[in-house]
Amino acid sequence: MRIETLAVHAGREVDPTTRAIVPPLVLSTTFERAADGDFPGGYIYTRNDNPNRHALERALAALEGGAVALAFPSGNAATSAVLQALDPGDHVIAAAEAYYGTRAVLTGALRRWGLQVDFVDLSDLDALAAALRPNTRLVWAETPSNPRLQIVDIAAVARVAHAAGARVVCDNTFATPILQQPLALGADLVVHSTTKYIGGHSDVLGGCVVAQADDEFIQRIRSYQVFGGAAPSPFDCWLLLRSLPTLPCRVRAQSEGALRVARFLADHPAVAQVDYPGLPTHPGHEIARRQMRGGFGGMVSFQVRGAEQDALNVAARVRLFTRATSLGGVESLIEHRASVEGPNTTTPRTLLRLSIGLEHPDDLIADLANALDLLRS
Ligand SMILES: Cc1ncc(COP(=O)(O)O)c(C=O)c1O
Repeated sequence: MRIETLAVHAGREVDPTTRAIVPPLVLSTTFERAADGDFPGGYIYTRNDNPNRHALERALAALEGGAVALAFPSGNAATSAVLQALDPGDHVIAAAEAYYGTRAVLTGALRRWGLQVDFVDLSDLDALAAALRPNTRLVWAETPSNPRLQIVDIAAVARVAHAAGARVVCDNTFATPILQQPLALGADLVVHSTTKYIGGHSDVLGGCVVAQADDEFIQRIRSYQVFGGAAPSPFDCWLLLRSLPTLPCRVRAQSEGALRVARFLADHPAVAQVDYPGLPTHPGHEIARRQMRGGFGGMVSFQVRGAEQDALNVAARVRLFTRATSLGGVESLIEHRASVEGPNTTTPRTLLRLSIGLEHPDDLIADLANALDLLRS
């Protein structure tokens, strides 16, 4: 079945009791036991499982081509669940440009838990090979990355990591399963902040882990969800499942808009650099063309000529773009990343990150042109 069809049908069937086409929202936290002690409905307690969560997990597994998916109340909860499935003393290699919240988990609570962590440029396979140790259990990739849109060759990273006995996780939040399927390329696990494109409307926080195999490692992750209590609410799961049928259309339209915006920015004299994997000048363009299909995603970062204040002035002047963090919603957002990421950030201070929404690209370009003109006057 093609992904557009899966996006509409996976995890959904007509409700057998009411014949409702839209899955009912099941808020009950507890489910009746039969006289013989059995649970005929298949559910016991909502922290363990819930019909809305179960439906969402089936749909996410189908879209990513995985054996099993687990839903979490945020992307960072999904990240923490994967990392806590490791043992103290295990070594993790993470992409030098992973989402700063992922780096915060790795260098904060999980380092206290006893994980050893190295941050490595995963586009450099020799650097990856050199960083592998006998106790390396996980290689954490993110492609395209947040916020510089760096590209990692998932298949190549998986080959190197697997040869050393390490699992590969890919954060697929920016690409979504519509544009990229890391499990088919050799990754063992995929994580998402479903808050972003999967939710798509900036109104629900969520995360998920999808696994190639229903093995002992995913059982550990499930145990963090069930006993660690990292269970998403039924309504959040309902909202996320509601968003899936439009995911292919949204992501493709946002990718088309982002490509047009990136081309406009690349030609603008007030812009020093554009990071967008769809541009042939991007260092990861050829790999992105190979491992992504149907677009390069809706995120674009660019650096203005001048100083930090010039970037802030551009962000202050736009009218259609909203100055806000997060991404993947129907409305376009602009963000000065360095000021969000804190004093230790390596993100250039002249960088602005755009999340392209579903407005007409010509209107977005006109808005940016107007704001950038300020820098030329
Ligand atoms: C690539 C990526 N991964 C993970 C996360 C964390 O997700 P959440 O904010 O849902 O916890 C984010 C959030 O911005 C992200 O951009």
